[in-house]
Amino acid sequence: MTSGTAERPRITVREVLAKKQRGERLVMVSAYDALFARLSEEGGADLILVGDSMANAILGLDSTVPVTMDQMIHHGAAARRGTSRAMVVVDMPFMSYQVSTEDALRNAGRIMKETNAHAVKVEGGDADIAARIQAMTRAGIPVMGHLGFTPQSVNTLGGFRVQGRAPGDQERLIEEARRVENAGAYSLVLELVPSGVAKAVTAAVRIPTIGIGAGPDCDGQVLVLYDLLGLNDQFKPKFLQHYAELAADVRSAVGRFADDVRGGRYPDADHSF
Ligand code: KIV
Repeated sequence: MTSGTAERPRITVREVLAKKQRGERLVMVSAYDALFARLSEEGGADLILVGDSMANAILGLDSTVPVTMDQMIHHGAAARRGTSRAMVVVDMPFMSYQVSTEDALRNAGRIMKETNAHAVKVEGGDADIAARIQAMTRAGIPVMGHLGFTPQSVNTLGGFRVQGRAPGDQERLIEEARRVENAGAYSLVLELVPSGVAKAVTAAVRIPTIGIGAGPDCDGQVLVLYDLLGLNDQFKPKFLQHYAELAADVRSAVGRFADDVRGGRYPDADHSF
């Protein structure tokens, strides 16, 4: 059931790259606190992403755009404290790296120093983003890229939709992936792209691709923990598989607690001092 993580060494950038060479799939889970990061690691996740998806998953926001540096640091530090083996990656929030390379370096440095995480993630693959990735990597900060549907650009992309279906999109994505790789990124999330496109991008780069809604041919897969646990039964994208149905369990448990309190059955003598 669990993968027995206690004495195993921390997953490093070198190990992430080696897994692609060995043809071993990477497993990443987005989690935002110490408890769920620990449980994810004990379940066998190689990487914990403290994603800005926390906006939708737990903060009650409808996009990742409003998420702040302080929120990412608060949750990043908590998740990092819950792990002993997994590589912890923290998302750089919207506008913390887009304006300038200096901004990117300062904000990535804050994330690394204040959370003790092992890497940061940024979205996009144009020349400006490549320059940020290069500067951060040179400063000693491992960077994960993110292409395809990039949630921080939801307002220009016109909603939560599959990318890479138009003629020329596959070539553009390959070009961006190579740019991100050449800039120094050690891995790359591919989100909401057709399977064939993700397969072609994966074959075109040496760094591992980690897919979400990108089919089976990426070098790894990522899901948001709350989603795979079935905690949000209102979120049902095609790519998502529930590995538990905890929304129903939570409602039922709270319902039984409420009944017992109202009926005077809790606490009973066994649960009292
Ligand atoms: O924010 C996040 O959790 C992500 C993953 C879904 C890739 O970016």
